Amino acid sequence: MLRFGYFLLSLFIGLVCFGNVDGLGMNWGTMASHKLPPKVVVQMLKDNGFTKVKLFDADEDTMKGLAGSDMEVMVAIPNGQLDAMTDYDTAKKWVAKNVTRYNFKGGVNVKYVAVGNEPFLTSYNGSFQNSTFPALQNIQNALNEAGLGDQVKATVPLNADVYESPVDNPVPSAGKFRTDISTDMSDIVQFLSKSNAPFTVNIYPFLSLYQSDDFPVDYAFFDGLSKPIVDNGISYTNVFDANFDTLVSALKAEGVGNLPIFVGEVGWPTDGDKNGNVLLAQRFYSGLFKKLAANTGTPLRPNQYLEVYLFGLLDEDVKSVAPGNFERHWGIFTYDGQPKYPMDLTGQGQDKTLVGAKDVKYLEQKWCVLSPNANNSSALEDNIDYACTYADCTKLGYGSSCNGLDAQGNASYAFNMYFQTQNQKEDSCMFQGLATLTSQNASQGNCNFTIQIVSSSSGLHLGPSSLYHVGLLLLAFEIVVSFSFL
Ligand SMILES: *[C@@H]1O[C@H](CO)[C@@H](O)[C@H](O)[C@H]1NC(C)=O
Ligand SMILES: *[C@@H]1O[C@H](CO)[C@@H](O)[C@H](O)[C@H]1NC(C)=O
Ligand SMILES: *[C@@H]1O[C@H](CO)[C@@H](O)[C@H](O)[C@H]1NC(C)=O
Ligand SMILES: *[C@@H]1O[C@H](CO)[C@@H](O)[C@H](O)[C@H]1NC(C)=O
Ligand SMILES: *[C@@H]1O[C@H](CO)[C@@H](O)[C@H](O)[C@H]1NC(C)=O
Ligand SMILES: *[C@@H]1O[C@H](CO)[C@@H](O)[C@H](O)[C@H]1NC(C)=O
Ligand SMILES: *[C@@H]1O[C@H](CO)[C@@H](O)[C@H](O)[C@H]1NC(C)=O
Ligand SMILES: *[C@@H]1O[C@H](CO)[C@@H](O)[C@H](O)[C@H]1NC(C)=O
Repeated sequence: MLRFGYFLLSLFIGLVCFGNVDGLGMNWGTMASHKLPPKVVVQMLKDNGFTKVKLFDADEDTMKGLAGSDMEVMVAIPNGQLDAMTDYDTAKKWVAKNVTRYNFKGGVNVKYVAVGNEPFLTSYNGSFQNSTFPALQNIQNALNEAGLGDQVKATVPLNADVYESPVDNPVPSAGKFRTDISTDMSDIVQFLSKSNAPFTVNIYPFLSLYQSDDFPVDYAFFDGLSKPIVDNGISYTNVFDANFDTLVSALKAEGVGNLPIFVGEVGWPTDGDKNGNVLLAQRFYSGLFKKLAANTGTPLRPNQYLEVYLFGLLDEDVKSVAPGNFERHWGIFTYDGQPKYPMDLTGQGQDKTLVGAKDVKYLEQKWCVLSPNANNSSALEDNIDYACTYADCTKLGYGSSCNGLDAQGNASYAFNMYFQTQNQKEDSCMFQGLATLTSQNASQGNCNFTIQIVSSSSGLHLGPSSLYHVGLLLLAFEIVVSFSFL
């Protein structure tokens, strides 16, 4: 009897836990040359129990895909549109077109508007400093005027370097907003507080590790192995908590210590860097999910539910690599919506294979590789450079999954990436006679020579429409290259 009761109880707990990734959000970025159909992506999100999704724009196709899904959505205004939003009428039009229009039964459940994306990154040199706060105000006011102010909140996803602790006292309790933006930050947090909107911050332990070789590796993870940093008697064994609490302190210093905090992005890439791999990603997520399931919060906000959006859903092969090659490999799913590794989103430690995208349509099983008859090695390098200018070769870089290839392997990989990105167009596997087609899987070891999917959109222009002009373009490319060496 007792046993049976226990069995029922655990069955019940199991059921509750498995259906319940409740509250776990996902970032859906679309910087891909070949996009999965939005409906397929939304089904993937649902199949894996995600109930919240964060976008980087308010693209109409994406929104149509979300219509009728009940998914809580954070739509976004890209940084490039912030300046325009400092005009109230423009902000009102944005809200009418991208929020109000979807506000009907069977429409899209928009809950948040992200105003900009990390607009205060130091690498932007202050370009968005003057427009961010006015844009935030205008969007929230426009939402209020549209009668949506109670259900839709405007927020600004910020990078974690908008706050810091002094170099001579590097502890969370000493957290303050960065001095160059302190007035803006002060205005923003007061306004968020007044509007009952959350502060949104992106926290990346991976970047802490990436940026400094001295960073203690274990401190990036959640398994308590690192030497703690002690702050007023509180021991911090992971940088996520320390970082989050630095923000809590910065908010406290502004008099809004209880402002709700959303983690707008957190995750770990699987390629493109020596620390970007499946093993470390698994270690990171496993610790993160256990932490979230335990509802322990952080030392300065103990026993609190943490609102988190993972970054990200899919790999994105045309994302800017200015921060590093890893940028294109953040997905917990591959570019074609296949799970990369088992995980347990509910934090129960029962890793299982996630549900991949269904009915994915692929191009033919054809690869473009270096021809065995290629005899002009002096032309090789230019052709590789050409291919990699228009296709994603980040996996060839140091520390990545294809870094071990020899010169011939490099050429084959680059040619194939170009060929696939160009939808296997016949004339995109020429490379001045250096390339040839094969129906044999050309993958080498851990290096996956991929076949692209049939794209759901055709709008992206990634290269010349025809390789007919390759000679001319190659020349242009060489000129660019030689100029950059001057
Ligand atoms: C709505 O959002 C889309 C996609 O982000 C954007 O291109 C468009 O300019 C917005 N519409 C208005 C009226 O601002
Ligand atoms: C910021 O300034 C640096 C150095 O002056 C420059 O290289 C970079 O292109 C600038 N970035 C932007 C977004 O303006
Ligand atoms: C922002 O405003 C200040 C003060 O008006 C001005 O000096 C600065 O050039 C502006 N920055 C940008 C990027 O427009
Ligand atoms: C080099 O390759 C080209 C194209 O495959 C071929 O036409 C040519 O005969 C080859 N030359 C030599 C010396 O093998
Ligand atoms: C080899 O390629 C180079 C550079 O494209 C070209 O100038 C040269 O004529 C080619 N040589 C042969 C034998 O085809
Ligand atoms: C292959 O390409 C990568 C990335 O460009 C480079 O680091 C590596 O040295 C190349 N390998 C050979 C054998 O040329
Ligand atoms: C090619 O082989 C690799 C490595 O064995 C595998 O991961 C990949 O799925 C294969 N691709 C296709 C299209 O079968
Ligand atoms: C390897 O490539 C195949 C298709 O060619 C793709 O389905 C699969 O997701 C890729 N796997 C990884 C880990 O990139």
